[in-house]
Amino acid sequence: MNSQITPDISIPSMLHLNSSEDDESYSSRPGMSFTDGSDQSSSEIGSLGTHEEYTVVPPHIGYKKVLVTGGAGFIGSHVAEFLLARGDDVVIVDEMNDYYDLSLKRANLALLREAYPDETRLKIYEGDICDENLMQEIFEVESPHWVCHLAARAGVRPSIQDPYVYIHSNIKGTTLLLELSAKFGVKNFVFASSSSVYGGSKSTYFSEDEVVDNPVSPYAASKKACELFAYTYHHLYNLNVSGLRFFTVYGPRGRPDMAPFKFIDRISRGLEIQKFGDGSSSRDYTYISDIVDGVVRAIDRPYPYQIFNLGKGSGTSLNEFIDIVQKETGNKALIKQMPDQPGDVPYTCASCEKAHRLLGYKSQVSFGDGIRRTVEWYNQAYIKNTIEVCPERQANGLGRAPSFVELRC
Ligand SMILES: NC(=O)c1ccc[n+]([C@@H]2O[C@H](COP(=O)([O-])OP(=O)(O)OC[C@H]3O[C@@H](n4cnc5c(N)ncnc54)[C@H](O)[C@@H]3O)[C@@H](O)[C@H]2O)c1
Repeated sequence: MNSQITPDISIPSMLHLNSSEDDESYSSRPGMSFTDGSDQSSSEIGSLGTHEEYTVVPPHIGYKKVLVTGGAGFIGSHVAEFLLARGDDVVIVDEMNDYYDLSLKRANLALLREAYPDETRLKIYEGDICDENLMQEIFEVESPHWVCHLAARAGVRPSIQDPYVYIHSNIKGTTLLLELSAKFGVKNFVFASSSSVYGGSKSTYFSEDEVVDNPVSPYAASKKACELFAYTYHHLYNLNVSGLRFFTVYGPRGRPDMAPFKFIDRISRGLEIQKFGDGSSSRDYTYISDIVDGVVRAIDRPYPYQIFNLGKGSGTSLNEFIDIVQKETGNKALIKQMPDQPGDVPYTCASCEKAHRLLGYKSQVSFGDGIRRTVEWYNQAYIKNTIEVCPERQANGLGRAPSFVELRC
């Protein structure tokens, strides 16, 4: 596999790979082990700051068959790759939409298939997660006891243009998966939320106990809705659920509509970038191997209902960002100075304290290292192959890049 991910970053272990899902490690529902024995689930939502209440759930160790929705996409393909490498089996469902160049998703699946030709290890279904018949059949035939739900329409600005597709894929799709997961006795349902839910917040460090009732885009509203539906399914059916709020993820095979890819691509090709404001505004960027580590830690630990931030936990200013990309690409950026964007907050990043405490998560990759690895991948994938593309034009939306990288080809 042509991957930069090193499994040693994550602790999930390869022990007992031959054990079946019926072995004793599955006999009690992990995550239901609250110290005082009471059902604390009703106090979990909205009171996540009261962490003393929670018992740390130990990782489930042993074989898993994991349904990875959105497995052809950026994060999903990396998560699938990691799970397969440690010995789990993976079932992918992806509708292969053309939000960005479909050949990138096909290449992701081809990489996985090449490394895992055996269909009993890796099964790939092409279809919409909202297709009830298809999804019912997948649950019946494959019996995945673990779900990692990453399929979604991503992108803030495209969601303003076409909110209905977000309601379809994100809200309806997630609800159907929750329904089937409850019905088929899934042991842990982990899904992608987003840092976008903090959209209207003026905080510097976003923490999970902040009230996020003011989403500022249909995308953010759809992710918040997923968190609410997930809670309802936990409440009604005791489904173990963790929602993960990712903070701008980048790395090899990254999405072409996002800032890190755009900057690397445009600076490498000598194209102009627009810089809004004085460059001091700062954001949290998370390298893909750290996100995979956090996702897998969450899969392995079936908390009754939790929301976790997964980020680097520190910000990088726009000026640093541009400097690092210049250094790693060896090219000088052509900068078009733009005025400050109204409403831009100077510094935001994830508080990862809760993920550290309950999942043992800690980001490992500095922004400099992450960009270096991403540039290495980019050079191999794009420059050496001399692919004649403008990747960002291939994103059929306007992208989810922060306001300071409003770019045109
Ligand atoms: N990349 C980030 O920085 C970031 C940040 C916050 C949240 N997220 C969330 O993480 C998840 C993965 O993001 P990504 O960056 O890998 O995006 P991606 O677009 O590369 O992957 C998502 C995949 O889901 C598939 N999909 C979409 N709707 C579907 C449907 N109805 N049925 C089946 N498949 C469908 C797409 O074809 C795509 O392959 C998404 O839920 C996204 O909202 C990502």
